[in-house]
Amino acid sequence: MGAALIILAAGQGTRMNSDRPKVLHPLGGVPILWHAMAAGQALDPEQIVIVTGHGAEAVEASARGYDAGVVCVRQDQQLGTGHAVAQAMPALAGFSGRALVLYGDTPFIQTGTLEAMLASPADLVVLGFTAADPGRYGRLVAEGDRLERIVEWKDACEAERAIPLCNSGVMCADADLLADLVAGLGNDNAAGEYYLTDIAAAARARGLDARIVTCPEAETLGINTRAELAQAEAAFQARMRAEAMENGVTMQAPDTVFFSFDTVIGRDAVIGPNVWFGPRVTIESEAEIRSFCHLEGCHVSRGATVGPFARLRPGAELAEDVHVGNFVEIKNAVLDEGVKVGHLTYLGDAHVGEHTNIGAGTVTCNYDGVSKHRTRIGAHAFIGSDTMLVAPVTVGAHAMTASGSVITGNVPDGALAVGRARQENKLGLAVRLFEKLKTEAARRKGKTR
Ligand code: UD1
Ligand code: CA
Repeated sequence: MGAALIILAAGQGTRMNSDRPKVLHPLGGVPILWHAMAAGQALDPEQIVIVTGHGAEAVEASARGYDAGVVCVRQDQQLGTGHAVAQAMPALAGFSGRALVLYGDTPFIQTGTLEAMLASPADLVVLGFTAADPGRYGRLVAEGDRLERIVEWKDACEAERAIPLCNSGVMCADADLLADLVAGLGNDNAAGEYYLTDIAAAARARGLDARIVTCPEAETLGINTRAELAQAEAAFQARMRAEAMENGVTMQAPDTVFFSFDTVIGRDAVIGPNVWFGPRVTIESEAEIRSFCHLEGCHVSRGATVGPFARLRPGAELAEDVHVGNFVEIKNAVLDEGVKVGHLTYLGDAHVGEHTNIGAGTVTCNYDGVSKHRTRIGAHAFIGSDTMLVAPVTVGAHAMTASGSVITGNVPDGALAVGRARQENKLGLAVRLFEKLKTEAARRKGKTR
C-alpha cells in the first residue's frame, strides 16, 4: 500500500519580509517547496496534497509545475498546523494507507528518514531530533522511543523546556486515524491555534501506540528568515559538492562551484573553478567544464569541453567531443559530434552538423525584432571568422563561408559563399596620406604659438 503526502504550505512566512510566499523563494535554483516534494515523491506516493493559504495561487502553480498530479486545498485562515491537516483530509477520502505530514519550508528531509517512519508499525509516528539549541521548538515528552505527548514551547513548563528532544513536525499515521485525530483537536492553548502536536496525547488517550523516529538536526532545518535561507543555500551547496565528488567528479575549487537541485554530473567529469549550474543541466562522464562558465537547461556529452568563460543557455545540446571555447554563448542549439566553436560566438536557434568548425566572431542573427528564426549548418562545414548568418538560413555540408561574410541566402553543399565587399589596394596611398596628415598637424601647431 502506497503512502499519501500532506505538505503544509499555507503560512505567510512574515519573517522573510517579502511579497513572495516563503516556500517559493529559491533554494538550489528551485522553490523551497520542491525540495520537500522531491523527498516525498521518491516514495512514489499515491497522492500528494498541498495545503495552501498565503499566496495560494502562486504556490499552487509552482507545485503543479513540479508535479501536475498534486491536489491543492486551501486553508483560508491559518488557524494552526492541526487545522491545516484537517483541511487536507477530505482530499484523501477513500484512501486507506499511511499519510505523511511534511512542511513545505523544511527542504532537507531525506527520503530514507521518511521510509524509516513508514516502516514503523506504530499507530502514530513522529520525527524527532536532538537540537544543538532547542530554542522554541515543540518538545517530545517520551520514555525511550515511546511518545507520551508533545508540548509547544509557549505552553511548556521549565522542566519540559529542558527536554532536548524536539518535534520536527513530520508525522505519519493511517489516513483515517489522522482524520479522526485532527477532527477532535481544540485550540485552548497559549497560541489559540489548533496544534497538530496535540494528536500525540490524543492517540495515547485512546490506548494507541505513538513512537518517535529520530533524524539528524540538519534534515529538519526550517527556513524562516533570509539569513536562514542563505544558511540553507550554503548547506545545500555543501551537500551537492560532496555528492558530486563521491560520484567521481573532479573539482579544483569545489567551494566556488554552484549546483541546482537537479544537476547531474557523470563520473570523471572535471569542473573548474567558478562554475554555475542552473536548473536542468546534465554533464556526461569525462566532459570538462572550465572555469567561469554559466550553464542552465543544457546537456553536455561525454568528452566535450566547455569554456573558460562560456555560457550555455536552455536548449544547448552538445554531442560527444564538442569543443566550446571562451566567450561563446549557445542557446537552443544542437551541436553534433566533434563541432568546434572556439571563440567569441553566438549560436542561437541552430543546428550544426558533425565536425563543423565555427570561426571566431560568428553570430547567428536569429531575431528580426519580431520572431526567432533557425540556422542550419551541415556536417564538415567551415564557417569563416566573423560570419553573420542571417536566419532563416541553411549552410550545406562541406560548405565554407568567407571571413567577414554576411550570409543572407542558403549556401549549397560544398560551395564557398563570399558575402562581403571586394578588396581594392590603392598603391602608395597610405604613405601619401600619412605625410599630408603630419603636415597639417605641424601647421596647426605653428598657428597656436
Ligand atoms: C511547529 C510545531 C513545533 C515544531 C516546529 C518544527 C505545531 C503546533 N508546532 O511549530 O512543535 O517544533 O513546527 O519546525 O505544529 N502551516 C499551515 N497552516 C497553519 C499553520 C502552519 O499551513 O495554519 C504551515 C506553515 O506554513 C509551515 C508549517 O505549517 O510550513 C509549520 O508551521 P509553523 O507556524 O512554522 O509552526 P511552528 O510554530 O514553527
Ligand atoms: Ca516554523
